[in-house]
Amino acid sequence: MYPSLKGKVVAVTGASSGLGKAIAQRFAEEGAKVVVNYLTEDDKPELVIDEIKTKGGEASKIQGDVSQEDDVKRIVQFAVETYGTLDVMVNNAGIQAEIPTEELSLDNWNKVIQTNLTGAFLGSREAIKHMLDHNIKGCVINMSSVHQQIPWPHFAHYAASKGGIKLLTETLALEYASSGIRVNNIAPGAIDTPINAEKFADPEAKKDVIDLIPMGYVGKPEEIAACVAWLASSEASYVTGITLYADGGMTKYPSFQAGKG
Ligand code: NAI
Repeated sequence: MYPSLKGKVVAVTGASSGLGKAIAQRFAEEGAKVVVNYLTEDDKPELVIDEIKTKGGEASKIQGDVSQEDDVKRIVQFAVETYGTLDVMVNNAGIQAEIPTEELSLDNWNKVIQTNLTGAFLGSREAIKHMLDHNIKGCVINMSSVHQQIPWPHFAHYAASKGGIKLLTETLALEYASSGIRVNNIAPGAIDTPINAEKFADPEAKKDVIDLIPMGYVGKPEEIAACVAWLASSEASYVTGITLYADGGMTKYPSFQAGKG
């Protein structure tokens, strides 16, 4: 637990499921006031809010599409109007779709880039603007992926969006370091969330993924939430511009395991 997170105002995008939900829950357990962003009512965001409130935490929900500038402004305004400020912005919302590149339409390309990369840009910009205006030494955390580093055939748009997030994070870290605003990146490997549900429903496909993970198991959303909490806490006060890989070793050339090569 990180006492420095108590009372902080944290906004998490795409927080009705998967990693975003676990991150929202972790911040609530830390005593933060959490803004749960969701895309549509079908996402049932009230379930996350109810779970948080049942455990004595504080959270509110706000609909918004992170690829839309006005929506992202609304999300940040909502945090400020509801809880008085914004200390931590977690740009987590993201989508992926398997499409061979020769069949990838411009619409599909744009949808992934606008959600994953433009969404992180808009969320970062709006949060940083608020932090600068109010002299808040806050923090932005972007959700990247091991595919900011590992090329991924059939997912060119996704890999490009995550590669973009890496340099967006590093650039913003440098740009706002002197204002005391930290900007960091998390790169999860394969984590058990709805984004992978279809693939992991097939035991062979799941085994293929596990074979790529030196630690030998698919990560849990709570293991990513723990990284986010640490990065947002004062324990990470001197950390900015990094990518924290939480991938069970996936980026460490698993084919070289057991002395091969
Ligand atoms: P998920 O599908 O459970 O969560 C994604 C959330 O984003 C959903 O709640 C969805 O409604 C929301 N969302 C999608 N488009 C949105 C939009 N335009 N505006 C607002 N919200 C929107 O999947 P997961 O795994 O929790 O993904 C979260 C993030 O983690 C994504 O950025 C993903 O790329 C990243 N990630 C996930 C990994 C995994 O293995 N689960 C691995 C590496 C990265």
